[in-house]
Amino acid sequence: MPALSEISPLTVPLLVAAKGGEKIAMLTAYDAPSAALLDAAGVDVLLVGDSVEMAVYGEANTLSATMDSMVRHTRAVSHAVKRAVVVGDMPFLSFQTDPGRAVENAGRFLAEGGCAAVKVEGGSRILPAVEAILAADIPVMGHVGLTPQSYRKFGGFKVQGREADSARQIRDDAQALAQAGCFAIVLECVPDSLAVEITREIAIPTLGIGAGAACDGQVLVFHDVVGLTRDLRPKFVRRYADLASVIEGAARAFTQDVKSGAFPSKEESFTGVKPALRRVH
Ligand code: KIV
Repeated sequence: MPALSEISPLTVPLLVAAKGGEKIAMLTAYDAPSAALLDAAGVDVLLVGDSVEMAVYGEANTLSATMDSMVRHTRAVSHAVKRAVVVGDMPFLSFQTDPGRAVENAGRFLAEGGCAAVKVEGGSRILPAVEAILAADIPVMGHVGLTPQSYRKFGGFKVQGREADSARQIRDDAQALAQAGCFAIVLECVPDSLAVEITREIAIPTLGIGAGAACDGQVLVFHDVVGLTRDLRPKFVRRYADLASVIEGAARAFTQDVKSGAFPSKEESFTGVKPALRRVH
């Protein structure tokens, strides 16, 4: 199989075929301009995550995400992407209540959002929804470990799978999702040794976020990677740019120029008023 970077467009089966080989790079994306940049940079998977609620809308958690908002963001990202696989993140209560509703909502992501697959948070308990979505030929990415939609149950955004019982549950959940037919699974905030075992045991790619280096790929939130989130710095994030400083510097320079009259210049202004047309009676 050629390198993923040489293939365009990428597809869900190609990602599955990369298991155990080339690592998969995944970032979140929520809008067309940044999605176009990430796609051009060679990111393999763009996840339109419900983390948009925190990164873009300033919420304290992801529970406020709605179907309409997620589908709109997914559509914007899909419009901009030529190569990457776009995955839409199913929001809280869009798939947990009943499998029929889950299929309809997943279908909206593909039909209206234009993406290739959906992601759902949870393990064995959501299998009926996962199976129903898969039966409609909609590819599903699983998500276990710290599933942010369950953060109230966990008592916060805490590492999961440190106790033997919880580790066993996460392993069982990952296996059940893989056996059901998911094409990949996000492992969020679990000990690296647990991620090693799960990655070895299941036949589909694992995508880690705070899950160590053994996973088949890595995912991070775009705003964290480019340094737009100043206050929040989880241990597992590596910051590759400091866009917060760049943007603040640009805004400060603009403000100074406006106040001093240095902006706009003659070149940045329109000149030459045409004489008014004579009215013909
Ligand atoms: O919503 C999101 O951004 C996610 C990733 C952190 C995996 O679920």
